[in-house]
Amino acid sequence: MAKWLAQQVGEHGRVIATDVDTTYLQRLTIPNLEIRRHNILSDSLDEFGPGSFDLVCARLVLFWLTGKQENAIRRMVECLRPGGWLIDEDGDWGLVAPVDPAHPHYELYHRAWKNGEWWTARGYDPLFGRKLPVLFERCGLTNLRHKASASVVRSDSPWGLWWRQSLDGIRASEQADGSLTEERDKEYEALTAPLNDSSCWLMTAPIHACWGQRI
Ligand SMILES: C[S@@+](CC[C@H](N)C(=O)[O-])C[C@H]1O[C@@H](n2cnc3c(N)ncnc32)[C@H](O)[C@@H]1O
Repeated sequence: MAKWLAQQVGEHGRVIATDVDTTYLQRLTIPNLEIRRHNILSDSLDEFGPGSFDLVCARLVLFWLTGKQENAIRRMVECLRPGGWLIDEDGDWGLVAPVDPAHPHYELYHRAWKNGEWWTARGYDPLFGRKLPVLFERCGLTNLRHKASASVVRSDSPWGLWWRQSLDGIRASEQADGSLTEERDKEYEALTAPLNDSSCWLMTAPIHACWGQRI
């Protein structure tokens, strides 16, 4: 996204890409793209020049900031000039699931997934993405638009492989912090079994895009 934006604004435009962890961003060396380590919840906005941005764009970040999303959005809005746009993309991650009730992995998966309550048990909102317009409105944005899209893919598709890696990453972090109970480990087994079986069709998380304008 940072690279694409830098291409869109042309050589006289300027893009600043921020993240608390800039490991991946640092690999980009593009003249009109600046990379900065920044925590959207707690670091000062002064370094960016609040009220000066034409566009602030976030993707797949707010979901993780449980209970603090509105604060993060307000701070993004603060960076915009009047008339500037905020766009966010975030998922309804609780809706990822095999689609065929006749498939051998379907039942065990859904028992572990509990309609996305698997996320709730970890403190996350399984249906966060659809709430973006409500949060944008509360933060004073206007001219709101919202779209969502999802796909049904084979488990061995690039999306299925990415999802497998994501679950493996979450499991590894639970193992590291000691929250990986025997029951949770069994749930991971049930959730990843369909991902190792290319005969399984899977619905991806609907990814919501919401955009609105600062008055
Ligand atoms: C799922 S990744 C998405 C990365 C990128 N935006 C994209 O779309 O490919 C979530 C990112 O949010 C970053 N992040 C989490 N909390 C943050 C915070 N408080 N401030 C800034 N970045 C944060 C993480 O370091 C991680 O890189």
